[in-house]
Amino acid sequence: MGAPVNVREFEDLARERLDPVHYDYFASGAQDEVTVRANEAAFARLALLPRVLRGAGTPRLGVTVLGDEASMPVMLAPTAFHRLAHPDAERATARAAAKAGVIMIAAMLSTVAIEEVAAEARKAAPDPALWFQLYPQPDPAFTEAVVRRAEAAGCRALVVTADSPALGRNERGDRNGFHDLPPGVRCENLREPGDPARTGHVRQVVLSPGISWDDLDRLRGVTDLPIVVKGVLRPDDARLAVERGADAVIVSNHGGRQLDTVPASITRLAPVAEAVAGRVPVLLDGGVRRGTDVIKALALGADAVAIGRPALWGLAAGGEDGVTEVLGLLRRELENALVLCGCAAPQETGPDLVQEGAC
Ligand code: FNR
Repeated sequence: MGAPVNVREFEDLARERLDPVHYDYFASGAQDEVTVRANEAAFARLALLPRVLRGAGTPRLGVTVLGDEASMPVMLAPTAFHRLAHPDAERATARAAAKAGVIMIAAMLSTVAIEEVAAEARKAAPDPALWFQLYPQPDPAFTEAVVRRAEAAGCRALVVTADSPALGRNERGDRNGFHDLPPGVRCENLREPGDPARTGHVRQVVLSPGISWDDLDRLRGVTDLPIVVKGVLRPDDARLAVERGADAVIVSNHGGRQLDTVPASITRLAPVAEAVAGRVPVLLDGGVRRGTDVIKALALGADAVAIGRPALWGLAAGGEDGVTEVLGLLRRELENALVLCGCAAPQETGPDLVQEGAC
């Protein structure tokens, strides 16, 4: 196969290069994977209605989210275990994101410590925009210790994953017997040098059914960083998040990996954006594979989108260069989509650009 010309071809290349068990870990979702398929399919059911003869010129792609300037409205969603995709792991992803000027949300379940992820990002750009994703832990001291490390490493926002009071049922993982990381691969953010009990084993993270809005309040008492609530699909939850002090929300179904048969995230964007009513930024992830997907999300109310699997496919296919190329592809596609829609910037998109129903 020649060089991939789009994100889906990066997935094909990644599938060829990866251990099939690890490919399944990245690609799979919960149970029948209805939502995994729906995330992508829903974008194809939205048609674009371009404006003509607008003289918009070459689009500018830059956006500012929570004070962070990004070169385009595409960021990296938090995904666990990059070491399974490439030996350079999150180091490579962080360098590619920083070099591209995009915001990276580093996962709590990273196989490289957040301090090292940040150091690698700074090798590629002087002031990289790094956010940190957190599963609040039932042990508040553990949560606080992780938050302090993220703060000290220079992370500029905390992303609280709200859709995970338990782990989704992953049948590909069960079938493959994939229940543990390979020897030597650890969750480095879970390790504490002074605490021999904190070995970095993935099972040290507890997904607690007790997680509630009170955890958000507690976190607010622990840190001054902006707090982003990830995994919102309902307007009432979006309103609650804003009332409880969230600084942004991410419309997300965790890439279809948690509760199967929830709707595609793009179908929940407009109702959530309406409920938020511009009070805080609204972000979206799930199924974004094309520049046209990005423009549809922007048009329906997102300030930016995030990609999960596409970055992993780039990483698996070519390490740092692969992630760079995936980001470059999406940048070129988005620029092309904006110019063809008659828009000079992401801020010029609106719901009039999108028509429900197949093209
Ligand atoms: C994820 N996602 C995720 N989310 C999170 O908050 N913490 C995490 O540790 C992970 N880990 C993770 C691993 C893998 C392999 C995938 C594919 C996804 C979910 C992620 O942040 C995001 O919501 C989805 O990946 C977005 O969907 P797409 O872009 O993969 O379709």
